[in-house]
Amino acid sequence: MRLALRGDLLDFSGTPVWGSSVMASVRWRPDHWLLVDTGRIAGALPGDEPPGEDWQRVDHRGRLILPGFIDTHVHCPQLDVIASYGTGLLDWLDTYTFPAERRFADPAVAAEGAARFLDALLAHGTTAAVVFPTVHKVSAEALFAAAAERSMRVVAGKVLMDRHAPDGLRDDVAGAEADCEDLIERWHGRGRNAYAVTVRFAATSTPGQLAMAGALARHHPGLYLQTHVAENRDEVKWVAELFPEARSYLDVYHRHGLLHERSVLAHGIWLDTHDRALLRDTGAQIAFCPSSNLFLGSGLFDWQAAVDAGHRVSLASDVGGGTSLSMLRTLAEGYKVQALHGTRLSAWSALHAATRGAAEALGLDGEIGHFDTGALADVVVWDWAVGDVAGHRDAVACGAVPGLPAQELHARVFAWMTLGDERNVAAAYVAGMPRFERVGV
Ligand code: GUN
Ligand code: ZN
Repeated sequence: MRLALRGDLLDFSGTPVWGSSVMASVRWRPDHWLLVDTGRIAGALPGDEPPGEDWQRVDHRGRLILPGFIDTHVHCPQLDVIASYGTGLLDWLDTYTFPAERRFADPAVAAEGAARFLDALLAHGTTAAVVFPTVHKVSAEALFAAAAERSMRVVAGKVLMDRHAPDGLRDDVAGAEADCEDLIERWHGRGRNAYAVTVRFAATSTPGQLAMAGALARHHPGLYLQTHVAENRDEVKWVAELFPEARSYLDVYHRHGLLHERSVLAHGIWLDTHDRALLRDTGAQIAFCPSSNLFLGSGLFDWQAAVDAGHRVSLASDVGGGTSLSMLRTLAEGYKVQALHGTRLSAWSALHAATRGAAEALGLDGEIGHFDTGALADVVVWDWAVGDVAGHRDAVACGAVPGLPAQELHARVFAWMTLGDERNVAAAYVAGMPRFERVGV
């Protein structure tokens, strides 16, 4: 019940200034013991002051220890279509994604897919996620059950889509409402599961279904909302044709009561200043999905504009539009997207957005995203470097290469963020329980 992990502890006590490499709000405790009592963070001690014999000590000296990453937008069934060639969003959905999602009507496929997906998240250093299963009730059921087995924090809900989707992937308003009510009753707030009203995107729901989704949110305070918005120019044009009365794509959701402080909208590339102000005023967040946006050729999300407008931004893999479940790779791609805008995403801003920042945006900062005393111990242990090139780069940062001065911590962490991936994950703990250990650790 009492666990102590030794390593270099890195988390955030507040919000770093966006794009700044200054250490403010960065909590850096090199070579410390992280104390975990009954699944919760209980404090930290310097490496040379180990806790007593009644603590199980695991010595990861020389490794980095962070709160588990939070992926705020990812699709469980889309491991089947990750890295599919040659299409933009709408063709990609029709050609690859919809056919693959149909398989999840089968409870056995849904159960196996959910287990594979959650174990893969853990192996990539992600301990909490906001997840799309499929339109099938059984796929949400399987995901919640698999998350409960692993004690993972998962926010999810049955996908709503009652038009513009092939046979076997459409629901209807009454049936979907009944499925949602039943899933909410049985899973929302059970263990670490929370229910999200899950509108795939405006184009695949009738106005009647969007109204039902809004009513669900009103009847059940505390539900999340997840959807996609303004990802791709053809998609934006199509939504404008489908909802001519709306001022913008985002406004479609606003009109149906779907924007609030637990709303997570993926992408948000093609927004204007009105939309950004609406996000700020409603408290909704954009999940920035850089690897997906690059892979599908969707566009370049402008984080600086979001900062200027004052709305929340988290980071997400969006697998299978995204090309990796690794949040490190996601952050590295995020840096490159912002570089194309002429701005720089600091390691601090990126890592904060994937940990404490995401937790705050989801209203879960009492539980995850940091090492404050009392938080649940969702913790990941990372190698600073894997392979010769990364190892040499890390040695340069540490001042271990003759003729080159030691660099600031930000430079070392940025190189880790840019060169690292799931191979760097040594171990993952969920609520203090070991849930992943790399073979050979
Ligand atoms: N828009 C509607 N559905 C999807 C999806 O599955 N992935 C992405 N990236 N965008 C979408
Ligand atoms: Zn998505």
